[in-house]
Amino acid sequence: MARILTGIQSSGIPHLGNALGAIEPGIELSQKAGNESFFFIADLHSLTSVKDADKRKESVYAVAAAWLALGFDVENNYFYRQSDIPEVTELTWYLSCFTPYPMLANAHSFKDKSDRLSDVNAGLFTYPVLMASDILLYDADEVPVGKDQKQHLEMTRDMASALNHRVGEEVLKLPEAVIRESVKTVPGTDGQKMSKSYGNTIDIFASAKALKKQVMGIVTDSTPLEEPKNPDTCNVFALYQLLANESQIEEMRANYLGGNYGYGHAKKALLELIMERYGDAREKYQMLIENPQQIEDYLLAGAEKVRPIAREVLNRVRGSLGF
Ligand code: TYM
Repeated sequence: MARILTGIQSSGIPHLGNALGAIEPGIELSQKAGNESFFFIADLHSLTSVKDADKRKESVYAVAAAWLALGFDVENNYFYRQSDIPEVTELTWYLSCFTPYPMLANAHSFKDKSDRLSDVNAGLFTYPVLMASDILLYDADEVPVGKDQKQHLEMTRDMASALNHRVGEEVLKLPEAVIRESVKTVPGTDGQKMSKSYGNTIDIFASAKALKKQVMGIVTDSTPLEEPKNPDTCNVFALYQLLANESQIEEMRANYLGGNYGYGHAKKALLELIMERYGDAREKYQMLIENPQQIEDYLLAGAEKVRPIAREVLNRVRGSLGF
């Protein structure tokens, strides 16, 4: 039996990268007999970038609706909003006192964000400590994430080890990252990692028109229609490969190599595949998002269920530190 845990920031509507990199692998793990899953919406983390209260709240419901629409069984697992469990911020403080400053200063995601953003706040700097707290507060065993979170998981283990070492007992459990090789970095419409902050997402829950626009806007080279094309350097093919089955992939590869097959055709096929795969989820998402009270009820019930577990772990840490 394993305890699975993962979170998504409430900074917009989850995109294809979130779905393939974290949500779907998480749901699959949650369906394995004996596993119990803790999936949450990281709204405290999103405050590092989203300062507008209404926008953040809306995003909480969007992320929750995505988990539900993609099939997470909230009744038999744990589903909650990070900010409903204040224990997480207290543990963050204890962990931060075991976190060397250079570890945070060298975090890739901090360096990347501090190079790009105008608002480089202290929350952005201590972000990995809050994330470690999210994980350690529930004795998680496995954390399904995309590759961009790998270093954060290593830091989480380092923080837990440092505290355990200092108090001389295993107060905190060391978690493992679970990164699925094929979807560790889902590319965006420009070939870079798909990310809201790069504006290159495929928004699987957007309107059909907006989704079509994004897929048709995938960057390709200018090889003429009649010439053969290289599937292995094409952004459309890279995404197609992540969603299609073996025979569809082989057929598409042959189309590329055969010539007289344009990127427009490939984009249309990709769009069809997305619609086929996510059609039901898109409908469910729409229904859920129109009923935020139902989502709110799930989240509040989830917080009630999860809080005693957080309390117990926090008390263990407090005791070990002499508080
Ligand atoms: P966030 O909200 O940026 O992304 C949520 C999850 O989606 C994955 N992901 C991707 N995977 C593959 N390809 C992509 N292009 C792609 N884009 C995003 C991310 O790796 C992540 O798994 N810090 C986290 C949220 C968090 C968390 C946690 C995660 C807070 N506390 C505790 C796990 C455990 C984040 O910003 O993810």
